[in-house]
Amino acid sequence: MCKNATDASKFVATQIVLQIVEKQKKGQTCVLGLATGSTPLTLYKELIRIHKEEKISFKNVVTFNLDEYYPISKSSPHSYYTYMHNNLFKHVDIPEANIHIPDGEIDKSHLQEYCRQYESLIESAGGIDIQILGIGRSGHIGFNEPGSSQHSLTRLVYLDKKTREDAADTFSGLENVPQFAITMGIDTILQARRIFLMAFSEGKAKIVAEACESNPTTECPATFL
Ligand code: PGA
Repeated sequence: MCKNATDASKFVATQIVLQIVEKQKKGQTCVLGLATGSTPLTLYKELIRIHKEEKISFKNVVTFNLDEYYPISKSSPHSYYTYMHNNLFKHVDIPEANIHIPDGEIDKSHLQEYCRQYESLIESAGGIDIQILGIGRSGHIGFNEPGSSQHSLTRLVYLDKKTREDAADTFSGLENVPQFAITMGIDTILQARRIFLMAFSEGKAKIVAEACESNPTTECPATFL
């Protein structure tokens, strides 16, 4: 537990950079699982600062984003594709080919195969070294909403009402928030070698307490951590 969001973000950024540098020395890639939303914004700012001011290259970094709305075009201001490029990828030197974000434009008929491929790509990359997570008011991690199985893998999910309500302002109205998303599963997340769940502000206190104190239950997917 850290004193505030800035300290927590700096702590996590340092852990990530130490891992990147350690892997660089061994000529290896560092695989990061990345999250979106308001929570990791300070973390991404700090990573950009370290890249620019401390001249740390991220060329050996491979990324897999947790989720993406579905359907959504990459060029939408609300897509996680846009979010990640604006808030991190544009400002660091991760090769574009190393960046993976679930594709909100994929044709529905190819979705199942696409999700299987996403899992295979993570596996071929050697698995996730560090996974960053936020937590939603629904208890979701990624977009694994209540009801998600501990054994779930990357798939299409129906978004919880609370999650859509929380996104309503950004989308200028609940009716504009997509009903579906593609998300890594709980099992995908649990396979990461290290996981940092970040949660800031009083609004998250209740769900964080539930996530920490309840027995593992599909009612609050974060309890599987
Ligand atoms: P937030 O979202 O960072 O915008 O609060 C977290 C989440 O839904 O996982």
